[in-house]
Amino acid sequence: MSTLLHFLLVFLTFSLVPYTSHQYACNKHEIDVSTLSFCNKTLPYPVRAKDLVSRLTLSEKAQQLVNSARGIPRLGIPDYEWWSEALHGVSNTGPGVRFNEIIPGATSFPAVILSAASFNASLWYMMGQVVSTEARAMYNEGLSGLTFWSPNVNVYRDPRWGRGQETPGEDPLVVSKYAVNYVRGLQEVDIHGNRNMLKVSSCCKHYTAYDVDNWKGVDRFHFDAKVSKQDLEDTYQPPFRSCVEKGHVSSVMCSYNRVNGIPTCADANLLKGTVREQWGLDGYVVTDCDSIQVLYESINYTATPEDAVALALKAGVNMNCGDYLRKYTVRAVNQRKVSESVVDQALIYNYVVLMRLGFFDGNPKKHPFGKLRPSDVCTEDHKKLALDAAKQGIVLLENKGSTLPLSSKYVKKLAVIGPNANATKTMLSNYAGVPCRYTSPLHGFQKHVKRVFYQPGCQNVKCVDKQHIEAAARVAAIADVVVLVVGLDQSIEAEGLDRVNLTLPGYQKMLVEKVTSSAKGKVILVIMSAGPVDVSFATKLRKIRAILWVGYPGQDGGEAIAQVVFGHHNPSGRTPVTWYRKEYVDQIPMTDMNMREDKSRRLPGRTYRFYTGKPLYEFGHGLSYSTFIKFLIHAPSKVTICRSTEQNLNQIPFLTTDNQAADDSMAVDVSEVNCKKLEFVVAIGVKNEGKMDGGHVVLMFWKPPMWNEIEGAPKIQLVGFERVEVKARNTELAVVKLNVCEAFSLVDEQGDRKLVTGRHELLIGSPTENRVIHKFTIHAGGTMEDH
Ligand SMILES: *[C@@H]1O[C@H](CO)[C@@H](O)[C@H](O)[C@H]1NC(C)=O
Ligand SMILES: *[C@@H]1O[C@H](CO)[C@@H](O)[C@H](O)[C@H]1NC(C)=O
Ligand SMILES: *[C@@H]1O[C@H](CO)[C@@H](O)[C@H](O)[C@H]1NC(C)=O
Ligand SMILES: *[C@@H]1O[C@H](CO)[C@@H](O)[C@H](O)[C@H]1NC(C)=O
Ligand SMILES: *[C@@H]1O[C@H](CO)[C@@H](O)[C@H](O)[C@H]1NC(C)=O
Repeated sequence: MSTLLHFLLVFLTFSLVPYTSHQYACNKHEIDVSTLSFCNKTLPYPVRAKDLVSRLTLSEKAQQLVNSARGIPRLGIPDYEWWSEALHGVSNTGPGVRFNEIIPGATSFPAVILSAASFNASLWYMMGQVVSTEARAMYNEGLSGLTFWSPNVNVYRDPRWGRGQETPGEDPLVVSKYAVNYVRGLQEVDIHGNRNMLKVSSCCKHYTAYDVDNWKGVDRFHFDAKVSKQDLEDTYQPPFRSCVEKGHVSSVMCSYNRVNGIPTCADANLLKGTVREQWGLDGYVVTDCDSIQVLYESINYTATPEDAVALALKAGVNMNCGDYLRKYTVRAVNQRKVSESVVDQALIYNYVVLMRLGFFDGNPKKHPFGKLRPSDVCTEDHKKLALDAAKQGIVLLENKGSTLPLSSKYVKKLAVIGPNANATKTMLSNYAGVPCRYTSPLHGFQKHVKRVFYQPGCQNVKCVDKQHIEAAARVAAIADVVVLVVGLDQSIEAEGLDRVNLTLPGYQKMLVEKVTSSAKGKVILVIMSAGPVDVSFATKLRKIRAILWVGYPGQDGGEAIAQVVFGHHNPSGRTPVTWYRKEYVDQIPMTDMNMREDKSRRLPGRTYRFYTGKPLYEFGHGLSYSTFIKFLIHAPSKVTICRSTEQNLNQIPFLTTDNQAADDSMAVDVSEVNCKKLEFVVAIGVKNEGKMDGGHVVLMFWKPPMWNEIEGAPKIQLVGFERVEVKARNTELAVVKLNVCEAFSLVDEQGDRKLVTGRHELLIGSPTENRVIHKFTIHAGGTMEDH
């Protein structure tokens, strides 16, 4: 290479940097945009997308179907990386995001499982807004894409799942509400006449029935989830359906696993049939990374790579994380395994999303979000919200003799002990970015107490040797109070790594026992983990007076923990999962997808809805430093359901467990009911009788009529929740608005939703609270005109 040419190349490369760092198409300084309809902002998105696709050759099209989409310079289209992540903050887990000296970090919220425990839907929405604001600021600096493959809305079905931390827990309603709020916070553009614009694009994953990563040699690529129609309809699908129908998410990701023999990314029923046609996805379907490759290479589902590609495209896949669509689409079309029009349609779905994001509108500085700057990342407000999320989520599991809150007046010497006592990265959980800063538990406590002794007690959470335990026990003996921070991290529960037991790893149990027995004063046990841990042994140790679950609490998690322990924040979080005892793992294989108890196979059922055993802590459990009294102000006592069509409601007896028809309950298919006007509004008064202001989560459970006789009916089912802030000695109103068809329908074995007539019950409050019970009846009336 001549030196001149070399010089020119170097010069060109450098001078191109500013352009490549701003990824956008239709730059009028690069190309004559007046001749390109796809650049014309006044035309409808699908018209523009069609125009663009019509200009591409088949091989160019193939290059656009993968996450690392190759640019088309002749049309002024730059490379675009579709894969960015923002599960609980802008994350550099995907190749679309990077941090540099201009934006070194972004707000890192707690693991979703902890934010979920706040049961605060507006918090979830605000988190989405913060993340999308920071994402736009990063995009403007060329540091991020606009398409984020978050959130994870799989139901946390089994406590062993390594990715449970990414989810909002075990209840389909909570997961659905989290999904809708977070997605809306990410996507919504609050500008009048915004033409369906997107702030950033969000993606609900992993569709569907995906929640085995790697358990005793069964991995997600090879796992075939055997799922009943009943479980699919009332457990696995609702979050995805809500995401699309209520959250208007602009993408859905199909998973690695098979469902009843068919890989989800090759299942036309699940993708085209359900997501696209039934739910009406306005967006694109993307595969999990290398899911198409898995079809051919891992599970021999197809004979050739071209067959795998054709099958996925025809099933409704539009975008491939991976390279299979880039490599094999041209051959698949030429071999007539899939028609080019299917490819075109896929591209149109993808491009419409990029157009809604403004990617084809020229210079992003002129975009409504073009003014967001590096100073809009890690702002004081954003950091405060991350801290708020941790504080609102932390769950007080035990508080014997009102030991907590501690008073810094009386605690002169504090021992902070345990493998997670000085956690930093661990607090961020997985799919994290670089945080604005860290406040570890140790650091948090140092702000409240002058003399803090720190001993890790174990080398790390695996705690394979016990040589550090003695030193920990020694500082416990001289401190007024001990805070023991135990738990898990990504070496125990992670993507690709499920647990096999529910106990504290290694010698952590011994650490707890030795430290407690030598402690001079009271011991506060803090569990930093996503999945529940069986700490029943610790509840029996006399000196352990309080137990907190803190999830993975995010960048300022240590500050949140210290504020709760010292009473600067009144805890109000509720556990979003059931805390099973350790025997649970021997009672049901992780790979069994059934939610319901199965007496013949001696399976105990899963989650609070179906589990027949006695857990350590129930779903929804969580204490406060105040006492709250709830009372019913208003709730309907009678609901009349009417047909939506001319015919009479087709009432059929609901089959009971012994195949006898239930006496006074009849079932009506929800599809025959006029559901629109069936609102059910419950107003509850919440009185704070304590001395501290505090948040209170009102959980509203429904008990179906004759639940113990109807095959597969849940014992109870969360139908609504509302969080209120109540000042000491004050009363606040919590209003829960339900739709009768959504809230009070049961799914039968065919997967059909039925309303059951008869006497229903609402149980307001978690099982460890004094519940308010409200009875009401549902009965079938005539047509709408009768009313
Ligand atoms: C954009 O499309 C509109 C509507 O068809 C048309 O009136 C206008 O001339 C177009 N603008 C350009 C620059 O092509
Ligand atoms: C897939 O099929 C090929 C050829 O039929 C065979 O050699 C290979 O062992 C199979 N792989 C798996 C994972 O079944
Ligand atoms: C706590 O962790 C931080 C960050 O890893 C480290 O810099 C610090 O030295 C640790 N503190 C102690 C007392 O070990
Ligand atoms: C439980 O599993 C962890 C790994 O997740 C392992 O370190 C530990 O030794 C196991 N404990 C028992 C009692 O089997
Ligand atoms: C929900 O969270 C937001 C953000 O932290 C907070 O402002 C609000 O008070 C919370 N709502 C309740 C009822 O606690």
